[in-house]
Parts: sequence; structure tokens; C-alpha cells
Amino acid sequence: MAKFLVQKSEPLHGEVSISGSKNAVLPILAATLLTDEKCTILDVPALRDVDVMCDLLRSLGADVDKKLEENTVDVTASGEINSEAPFDLVKMMRASILVLGALLLRTGRAVIHLPGGCAIGERPVELHLKGLKALGATIDQAQLAKGIVDATAGKLKGNTIYLDFPSVGATEVIIMAASLAEGTTILENAAQEPEIVDLASFLNKMGARIKGAGTDTIKIEGVEKLHGVSHNVIPDRIEAGTFMVSAAITHGRILIKNMLPDHLKAVIAKLRECGVEIEATDEGVIVDGSKHKIISTDIKTLPYPGFPTDMQSPFMALLTVADGPSAVIETVFENRFMHVAEFNRMGANIKTEGKCAIIPGGKKLKGAQVVATDLRAGAAVVLTGLVAEGTTEVSQIYHIDRGYEHFVDKLKALGANIMRIEE
Ligand code: EPZ
Repeated sequence: MAKFLVQKSEPLHGEVSISGSKNAVLPILAATLLTDEKCTILDVPALRDVDVMCDLLRSLGADVDKKLEENTVDVTASGEINSEAPFDLVKMMRASILVLGALLLRTGRAVIHLPGGCAIGERPVELHLKGLKALGATIDQAQLAKGIVDATAGKLKGNTIYLDFPSVGATEVIIMAASLAEGTTILENAAQEPEIVDLASFLNKMGARIKGAGTDTIKIEGVEKLHGVSHNVIPDRIEAGTFMVSAAITHGRILIKNMLPDHLKAVIAKLRECGVEIEATDEGVIVDGSKHKIISTDIKTLPYPGFPTDMQSPFMALLTVADGPSAVIETVFENRFMHVAEFNRMGANIKTEGKCAIIPGGKKLKGAQVVATDLRAGAAVVLTGLVAEGTTEVSQIYHIDRGYEHFVDKLKALGANIMRIEE
């Protein structure tokens, strides 16, 4: 099993360029099933999750030419498309559910074995199914009781759908299904994440008629056909936020290229509260943590545009070495404090109670053997490893490989003392 060895590092300096967004490219790749023409996706990050999604599209019958050395993937779903997503791929990546809407539209049926819960929560899909039923799909209840989504549909018909929670995945699945339904769909209390906007702009280029993506009400007018197009994926805002924290926690100063500050307003506001200086320039965003101590602050995760749950653990890494106590409240997932035990192994002395974690701060962290419990938590313990005395050994780093392209190389280029060892 591969591991990272992280040593206490000097303040990070230099520049880093952000890769394409994992959480934008996955639904966009799923949406290529909606046309039998060739789609070229550019700025695709070389990640395990992208490999799995490409394998899934191939297993469904699409022709996939993955050129990740050029950050490009060509997909042509022109032949016979199978309706069933293989469980061995779905269990590797729960985002496989994102093919549900497109598969149902393309073949009239979609069969996806649910992988069940993961480290951060139970990950239900009842909102995805509520949306598809509203559009006219039938969900086999006996199969569902066995953890298998088995949906069938004739021609889908537009409808008004209210999401009880602004679920990102449910919003994406419903937008894809509604894009080729008959008539108009209004999706209320929709997720507003930038990745939804990127999916909608990809689909609109294909000929879809989607308005309001990025707000809580999205209107989709169904069309007859969608065409193949090429599309550049937006930069990964969570990777960008992670590198912003890497400069803050090491009191370094870095230039982050190819990031969109507008996608990180909540994180930027919180970093400024911690005393970090952040300036957007024509070259990119300068993050300067060299001038001040880290001031403690509180964060509460919320659906976009609130503070992103995916930045909760990387930001908590910073708070473990802030000058006083902080509170972190996680409202999006029910079990996203698995990283607390890892931080505590390093001496952070964090207490959790339900959705709330209290970080005392003011600690001198010590290197330890820690585990990446999910991909963001894995990045977070690397961040604390950069400032802890001694060596931090991070295992289960396959999680990190899922979501951070060339993570070690990018950190090394900034002066971080990190290496990957294959055991
Ligand atoms: C997406 O997951 C992201 N993944 C997650 O990023 C991200 O943390 C999450 O959105 C929230 O921003 C991808 O885009 C591939 P949700 P998703 O449906 O779509 C509950 C990462 O680190 N819910 O918005 O699964 C659910 O249980 C990953 O890159 C229901 O209750 O997130 C959770 O508590 C981790 N019923 C909350 O909503 C449903 O039917 C948010 O889930 C669906 C969701």
C-alpha cells in the first residue's frame, strides 16, 4: 500500500496551477450518454474517479478515448447502450449514480446497485428517485429494498419538482433527465454549486434549454436531441481552497493560477478572518500567510454559497494551529468528523459533540501515523503534517489520489517536504 511521508516544512512559496474540477467533470462525463455524437471534454484532471467514470461509460457501451496526459477525454456513445451499471465499478465510486438520468433517457431503463454508506454518511438517493418519478419513471420497489435502483421509463414528461434538500447529485441527475423530456421542468430548492452551472453550460452547448443554474430554481425546457460538443471543465475550487490553506498553515506566500475566486467566497472570507492576506491579480490569486499569526474563527458548513463541506477538514487543519479556540459545525453530512481522531493523534485535542467540533487551537502538533479517512480528510492530515514536529505517515492515500491531481508534485514544487512511498 502506498503512503505519504510528510515532514515539517518551511513556509510554502512559489506558484501552483489548479486542475479541472472533479465534481464538475464527473456529471459532465455522465451527460455524454445523452447524445450519440462525439463529445470532447478538456481540462479533465487525471484522477482515479475519472478513470472509474471512464470505465463505467465503456462498460455501458460508449467509446471512450481517455488521454489524461493531455487532460482530455473523448466520448462517443453511439452504439447499443447497456442499462446496467456494473456493481464492481459503482462500489468504487458512489458518483456512478450520476449516470442514472442519462441512462434512463437513453435506454428506457437504468439499473444501479447502490454502494450504501461510506465514511462520511449514508449517502441516500431518494431525492434523485423522487425527481425521476415526477418525470414519469417507475422505480421497482422490490429491487430498491435490496439496494438496487431499477428505473424504467417511456418518454419522460416535464414537471415541477421540489427538492427537500438542495442535493448536488439529485439536481444533476434531474437536469440531465429533464433536458430531453417532453415539456418544461421547474426544479425548486435546487443545488447552486458552480459544478451545476458547468453541467448546465455543457448541456446548453449540446442544445439543451436550461435557465437558472446557479440559483435555487432551475427551468429546463425539454428538446428533441442533443449534439456532441467540446467543453473545458471549470477549475477545482476545493483543490484551490486546499492550496490556499497550505500557504496559510505554513505562513507561506503562494500564487494560485487557474482558480476562480468567485467560487470560493466563503472560504476566502474565513481565511481573511484568520489573518491571511488574499489578493486576486491578473496572474492569479496571491495567498499570503506570512504576515500574521493564525487567528481562530468558527465555521459552519452549508450548501453553496455557504462554506463548503468539502473544505471542512482542510480548514480544520488550519484551526488546530490557530491562536485560540474555534468551533466547526458540519450541517451537510451526518458523519464527517472522521479526521478528528487523526488530528488528535497529532496532539490537536479536538472534542466533538454531534455536528459540532471544538478545536482548542494553540497546539504544537507532533508527527504521527495517520489515515486518510476520505479524500478531503486525507489532504487535511497532509496539511497538518507540513507543520507538525517530525514525520507524519499518511496511509490509505488512494482516497487522495481520487481527488487531487499530482498532489505530491504540486506541494513539492512549493517547497513542501513530502514524498510518496510504495510499500
Ligand atoms: C456532491 O456529493 C460531491 N460529490 C461531494 O463531494 C460534496 O461533498 C457534496 O456534493 C456536497 O457538496 C460529487 O459531486 C461527485 P449531496 P453528493 O447529494 O451529490 C443528503 C468530494 O469530496 N441527501 O448534495 O452525494 C446526503 O445524505 C465529495 O469531492 C439526502 O438526504 O452530495 C448529504 O447529507 C464528497 N438524500 C447531503 O444531502 C438524497 O437523495 C448532501 O448530499 C441525496 C442527498
